[in-house]
Amino acid sequence: MKKNKNLKVAIVMGSQSDYKTMKLSVKILKNLGIKHEVKIISAHRTPKRMYDFANLATKNNIGVIIAGAGGSAHLPGMISAITSIPVLGVPIESKKLKGLDSLLSIVQMPKGIPVGTLAIGEDGAINAALLAAAIIANNDQRVKIKLNNWRLSQTRSVRKKPK
Ligand code: RP5
Repeated sequence: MKKNKNLKVAIVMGSQSDYKTMKLSVKILKNLGIKHEVKIISAHRTPKRMYDFANLATKNNIGVIIAGAGGSAHLPGMISAITSIPVLGVPIESKKLKGLDSLLSIVQMPKGIPVGTLAIGEDGAINAALLAAAIIANNDQRVKIKLNNWRLSQTRSVRKKPK
């Protein structure tokens, strides 16, 4: 397959209320200089928007989709059902069940349609972006160097002894 260095990451989320979590994915991608787009797409409130986005994602040069959703969190699975682009699901910490509902909804995809599931909340949003970067880095040496430098600086930030 032809290497495409212009692949973007799409960050989608079910609601404006998810953005306080998903903005951490955006921050990491900006930091690593990765092209990205950010959208609110709800599987149940805007099903046509979801279908059109997923259906056109390959044509729009999207290489990885990060989907954050809370509660009965079907957005990542539904997107993965429409496109074979890798989908990374971020379970949003819900008010009533603290995100356990979101986690179980996203992680328990029946065989055949995969969603890579990250941790609940902010850790998941950060790791989703790092994992998306690692996927993009397979075909993009510039991103690989940036990602490895990011990890190196994280390693260097860990003190040898506690203060
Ligand atoms: C889901 O419902 C969203 O992903 C969000 O996490 C949750 C609550 O949405 P709002 O009521 O805050 O719009 O679709």
